[in-house]
Amino acid sequence: MKSCLVCNSTIEPFLSFGKMPIANGFLTSDQVRDEYFFDLQVGFCHRCTMVQLTEHVDREKMFHDEYAFFSSTSTRMARHFGEFAASVRQDYLRLPDPFVVEIGSNDGIMLQNFAQANIRHLGIEPSANVAAVARSKGINTICEFFDEQLARRIVAEYGQADAFLGANVMCHLPYLHSVAAGIRILLKPSGVLVFEDPYIGDIVEKTSYDQIYDEHASYFSVASISNLFEQHDLEVVDVIPQNVHGGSMRYVIAHKGARTPSPAVATQRAKETEMGLGEATTYEKLRRNIERSRDDLMNLLRDLKSQGKRVVGYGATSKSTTVTNYCGITPELIEFISDTTPIKQGKLSPGAHIPVRPYQEFVDDYPDYALLFAWNHGEEIIEKESAFQQAGGKWIVYVPEVKVLG
Ligand code: SAH
Ligand code: TMP
Ligand code: ZN
Repeated sequence: MKSCLVCNSTIEPFLSFGKMPIANGFLTSDQVRDEYFFDLQVGFCHRCTMVQLTEHVDREKMFHDEYAFFSSTSTRMARHFGEFAASVRQDYLRLPDPFVVEIGSNDGIMLQNFAQANIRHLGIEPSANVAAVARSKGINTICEFFDEQLARRIVAEYGQADAFLGANVMCHLPYLHSVAAGIRILLKPSGVLVFEDPYIGDIVEKTSYDQIYDEHASYFSVASISNLFEQHDLEVVDVIPQNVHGGSMRYVIAHKGARTPSPAVATQRAKETEMGLGEATTYEKLRRNIERSRDDLMNLLRDLKSQGKRVVGYGATSKSTTVTNYCGITPELIEFISDTTPIKQGKLSPGAHIPVRPYQEFVDDYPDYALLFAWNHGEEIIEKESAFQQAGGKWIVYVPEVKVLG
């Protein structure tokens, strides 16, 4: 029996993926023997509706000086964060000499926009290698894990913040109460927390189960987020759906009573009720859809193999670790995974041990089929790779359903 990260009620998993490795734990062949595995299970809290993992990997095992995810590998995301920063400047940096803090600032993809405009900023990024890239771009970064204690130290050294930002990081933090308490301390009375994460509504709608892996400790809805922050005298004042990472939600949070909530908050909560995001049966149905998606993908890959087709993976994403290990995709079914990130190249994918090779190898010898693991960057990739389809290549996608394109 596990207890809820937010309200401490007992939760039971609705889905077990079995033993899973670290999603970003790309490894060399001599590291295979000592590879770390844990039980990846996801549960729903009947009381506060938070969807969450029931077991958590130690944060130091995931975030360290060889962290494999560099935010700036996607030009589309760089543009997205440029727009994110511009909207924060316009809406929330109205006081003189504003101060912006970002949690999980990675290689500086968001904060570079503030640094270039000479706005006081601070990145909090515990993975030393990506933090070093941000610093080399002139972005003020501290290499630590954010929590309540660190919030106090930041306030003592720099003062309170006008805006506290986070993208694809709040959902990584199982110690949500310490984070919320820290944010309350860190924000000026008029300050806002603006963060976005993959949205549980999209995961349910699109069966995008590959969002579920070690780093993603919880899967937020407006209802579950509201409940968390209310306990810290903070409230959700706006929500804005985002068309990135397969469907995300941006939340704007302020001190209770400091700002009038936008009607979008109540509208989205009503949609969540309609979608059944607060009901256990929704997640039972999600489990059945996930099992069907797995079976469809494996049938397709086995069929292609029996026809002697070459299939290669595109994008050694953290999400692909869930897909390959849960479905049982082996190097016999997928020759290699192409990826542009140098630190992943020449290594084996976590658990499934499919070789990760430089992107050039994909271009030099197009396979018959490419399994689009980086489906969240699908538009950008399919457009960029038009020559692959012109040469007769076909894409395999599995979100929202298993399908061959082209
Ligand atoms: N914001 C970036 C990076 C997301 S990946 C983007 O959207 O592309 C999540 C990042 O959060 C990683 O770089 C990881 O090192 C960092 N992180 C993990 N735990 C953290 C914590 N407790 N405090 C601050 N950053 C953390
Ligand atoms: P993400 O889904 O976590 O953002 O990771 C995307 C991965 O896909 C990252 O390892 C880089 C890789 N990638 C490519 O290889 N080619 C591309 O065109 C894009 C956009 C990403
Ligand atoms: Zn709960």
